[in-house]
Amino acid sequence: MALRIVQWGTGAVGREVLATVLDPRSGLELMGVRVYSDAKDGVDAGTLIGRDPVGVVATTDVAAVLDLDADCVVYTPRLTDVDEVCAILRSGTNVVTTAFLFHPARIAAADRDRLLAACEEGGTTVHGCGLNPGNLSGALPLALTGMSRTIEKLTLQERADWSVYDSTAITFDNMRFGAPVDEISVTANDFLAFNSSIFVEQVWLLADALHAGIDEVTADVEAVAAEHDHEIFDHVLRAGTTAGQRWNWVGRRDGEPLVEIETLWTVGNEYPKHWPKPRHGWTLTVEGDPSMQSHFLSLASFRRDASMLEHVNSANVATAMQVLNAVPAVCAAAPGFATIADLPPVRSLIGFGNA
Ligand SMILES: NC(=O)c1ccc[n+]([C@@H]2O[C@H](COP(=O)([O-])OP(=O)(O)OC[C@H]3O[C@@H](n4cnc5c(N)ncnc54)[C@H](OP(=O)(O)O)[C@@H]3O)[C@@H](O)[C@H]2O)c1
Repeated sequence: MALRIVQWGTGAVGREVLATVLDPRSGLELMGVRVYSDAKDGVDAGTLIGRDPVGVVATTDVAAVLDLDADCVVYTPRLTDVDEVCAILRSGTNVVTTAFLFHPARIAAADRDRLLAACEEGGTTVHGCGLNPGNLSGALPLALTGMSRTIEKLTLQERADWSVYDSTAITFDNMRFGAPVDEISVTANDFLAFNSSIFVEQVWLLADALHAGIDEVTADVEAVAAEHDHEIFDHVLRAGTTAGQRWNWVGRRDGEPLVEIETLWTVGNEYPKHWPKPRHGWTLTVEGDPSMQSHFLSLASFRRDASMLEHVNSANVATAMQVLNAVPAVCAAAPGFATIADLPPVRSLIGFGNA
């Protein structure tokens, strides 16, 4: 029987989920769509992704969505709400999310306990994953270490220039690119603090899964100023303001760094000379016996011409599919938290689509 899905939030990631759930080969059935904006309230799910109507209408009414008795909510809002997720779990519906809860065992105890109680009450499971945090900082490193005898250090570096990312609300308002460099810190605003916390969680996930025995995870950011002005969509990023952010989340045991996630993010394409220079994309390095390195890139295609927009959106597709493909395993899992380290390998539900 088809698993019954509710899509919660229809941004860049949520729309990719919708398109796949509506594909008959997915083996999933769309029950409902929770939206936030009044403009989308009452709009058909097909219309929301530029297709013909499918007979499922989006709503801002949370109670009505919880009444649908779906098997799983795909929770991809911009801002997360633990109370809301608890309500979904208590109602008997599982949750997969790209937004948070990547390793709930390591989040604040009060939230963790509430979530666990909701899972127990509803007999449900919650799973957080995506691209990074997600597959590249969870499934891929764990899969590679299947070839390891011992590990000394595990490092994931993400190098990305965000100039072509059209969501300037995220790059400028939330991430604070274009702000004075001395205004960038781990706790500069709620978004940066939250964003940092999910990578901290991810370092704990790898450390816990690989017996690193770390005693702390630290978070640091270095902001670098632009040398020139840059026009970025509707914004001008001024010379002297933040054009680079290097973030390091490091898990240490007795002061020794064992697990590290580093992001090397720029807007305006000026690359600071003193930063490390991995290739664009994601570079995963496992130092140990043996030492291994893997480089990951997602594009719309390696063999046909695609627009920059399509290439950029490929990361949204990857993020969305990582959790949607996990739905059958999450629905079958024991109630509680299921991390990427707990679930069986997650594979494409549609794959070649020929079955
Ligand atoms: N783990 C990863 O690798 C990864 C990668 C990319 C994104 N993400 C996360 O996945 C989530 C979805 O990303 P996205 O790019 O799709 O985000 P987005 O386009 O910025 O926003 C998603 C949706 O959030 C909804 N929203 C509006 N106001 C809101 C409010 N006050 N509270 C909560 N939600 C509100 C809107 O829903 P409606 O339009 O339906 O009204 C919007 O479309 C985000 O949390 C993002 O951080 C994770």
